[in-house]
Amino acid sequence: MAELLLEARGIEVTYGNRRKGGVKVLHGVDLHLARGETIGIVGESGSGKTTLGRALLRLVDVSAGEIRFGRQVITHLDDRAMRPLRRRMQMIFQDPMASLNPRHSIRQILGDPLLFHGLARNAADAEERIRRMLDRVGLAAVVLGRNPHELSGGQRQRVGIARAALLEPEFVLADEIVSGLDVSTQAQVLNLLKGLSRDLGLSMAFISHDLSVIRAVCDRVVVMRNGRVEEEGDCASVFAAPQSAYTRLLLDAIPLPEVDDTWLKEPAPA
Ligand SMILES: Nc1ncnc2c1ncn2[C@@H]1O[C@H](COP(=O)(O)OP(=O)(O)O)[C@@H](O)[C@H]1O
Ligand SMILES: [Mg+2]
Repeated sequence: MAELLLEARGIEVTYGNRRKGGVKVLHGVDLHLARGETIGIVGESGSGKTTLGRALLRLVDVSAGEIRFGRQVITHLDDRAMRPLRRRMQMIFQDPMASLNPRHSIRQILGDPLLFHGLARNAADAEERIRRMLDRVGLAAVVLGRNPHELSGGQRQRVGIARAALLEPEFVLADEIVSGLDVSTQAQVLNLLKGLSRDLGLSMAFISHDLSVIRAVCDRVVVMRNGRVEEEGDCASVFAAPQSAYTRLLLDAIPLPEVDDTWLKEPAPA
């Protein structure tokens, strides 16, 4: 059996002050992810997908339950204790404009974290790693001198992916990362991520409200509803024979074409 990388047991998250009647939005969620595995987290808006993702990365505090990463229980580690783990758990956001510093060049955006985390020995080493990764994500080296707003949405998403992958993480959380893109760019970005996760042996949690996106990339799927796991299982079985009425509704609500193999070819260079 594949080695377990990330595990959550019974986690609860409450927003706001609990004594003043905060709002509980996760009600005891279990989730596990093996090394090299990609899970999809799906559910309608407000079901708690982003909160779950942020809890796994320890970006929001949990009020109950336990989170393990590798051999470590990380549920209540403070910032200092989390620091060495931060590089190993990366996140790619829905809106790269909000996560990429608008005043920095792509060279800085990709290079600074490499130097900060000590993965590159010096600027020349960083530059070499960056150029190799740009090539891998299908971006030309001319983007290095540009700022985020000078790139297209698809190019920015590739920069976000490159930035995460350069840090050689074990786990990547991708939250609605193709939602703002047109369908053909979506396919290219998904392919890219699929190829990278295979090549680098990454474990990924892929959050989307779109079942066709989940179906294209995931081994296993977790269906969220009102802060709970409604259903969980192999992608193939859940899509072929959903057990819960809610999952069936989600499936019915979205036109779900057969996955087209040509749709999942290697991305065209940008
Ligand atoms: N920072 C916050 N403060 C208070 N409530 C929040 C906050 N973030 C999310 N929520 C609420 O938590 C619930 C789950 O939200 P979220 O995790 O963003 O769901 P999803 O990603 O599935 O759309 C929603 O009811 C949302 O309104
Ligand atoms: Mg969300």
